Amino acid sequence: MDIDSQKPSGRADELQLPWVEKYRPQRLEDLVSQDDIVSSITNLIDSENLPHLLLYGPPGTGKTSTIVAAAKRMYGSSSAYSSMTLELNASDARGIDVVRNEIKEFAGTKQLFNKGIKLIILDEADAMTSDAQFALRRIIEKYTKNARFCLVCNYVSKIIPALQSRCTRFRFAPLSRDQIEGRLTEVAEAEKCKTTQDGIDAILRLSGGDMRRVLNLLQSTAMSAEVVDETSVYLTSGAPLPADMDQILDWLMNHNFQTACEQITAMCTMKGYALADVLAELTSKIMCLENLDSVPLGMLLDGMSNVEHRLAFGPDEKIQIASLVGVFVRTREAISVS
Ligand SMILES: Nc1ncnc2c1ncn2[C@@H]1O[C@H](COP(=O)(O)OP(=O)(O)OP(=O)(O)O)[C@@H](O)[C@H]1O
Ligand SMILES: [Mg+2]
Repeated sequence: MDIDSQKPSGRADELQLPWVEKYRPQRLEDLVSQDDIVSSITNLIDSENLPHLLLYGPPGTGKTSTIVAAAKRMYGSSSAYSSMTLELNASDARGIDVVRNEIKEFAGTKQLFNKGIKLIILDEADAMTSDAQFALRRIIEKYTKNARFCLVCNYVSKIIPALQSRCTRFRFAPLSRDQIEGRLTEVAEAEKCKTTQDGIDAILRLSGGDMRRVLNLLQSTAMSAEVVDETSVYLTSGAPLPADMDQILDWLMNHNFQTACEQITAMCTMKGYALADVLAELTSKIMCLENLDSVPLGMLLDGMSNVEHRLAFGPDEKIQIASLVGVFVRTREAISVS
């Protein structure tokens, strides 16, 4: 992929643009991963057979980029693109009135100079009210002759079944390590970042398959440190350092309740770690422990998910740290009794 072709030309733009926008894929073939989806959509566009679409999947996997690039392939020039596409996202008011009026007006008017099918992109469609979704059913059918709808969302279950059945669904999976690594290295080279392999590995580990997170983390680390290595990545992201996680796991597995509570609380306060981040790292760590049987592992994960659930409602972190230690102490006792 020619990454230079995606850079904006003006120097002022380059300074201001966050890398996620600077390196947003402009053409369908620039997208890494999602090959099946990209080739299906390309074929449907080229054969002028585009159905209504529903693109869904976790954040930062290329849904918005795909449909914007698809629209560019369909309409080419920027004047045709802007007159033939309507983009609405969650920041626009999208109650029932917008669906009734704005979409109707756009889909219903004929273009004098641009013939062909119009495209209406409803990004973050899972945030649409259900009344608006119900209104959309009828509108989709009414304007199918001259417009195609593309719904984009994270949670497909929040789209009413009647809308789902009117669309061809494409699920965007989190990007794999290899796919992210290739793109990450290209961007790092284009931006002349000094990176180390452990720095790249750390970004991959912390990103969870989200390309937006990868680029944001790379940019903020490159801005705050000379070299993008493991330590600078972890310090920038605020995630607990691997050595600290080893220490926390040791306290949980081998020390008594009092000591573990005090030490973990002290470390979180001193280093500014959020318990939610500690829990996320801890989960992947205990899943890899070789000498832990499935029964105690299940007990730990069950207890940790309760702590995480309570944390989401915002109670005191200190109490939740104690609760987490309690989960480990109880599990250790259960193993020693059996
Ligand atoms: N498959 C991909 N190939 C290359 N870059 C990608 C890909 N997916 C995401 N990116 C990068 O991440 C940024 C965000 O992608 P995009 O807006 O398409 O994500 P999204 O799936 O719509 O996420 P959300 O659900 O949060 O809206 C893009 O600007 C691009 O830089
Ligand atoms: Mg999006």
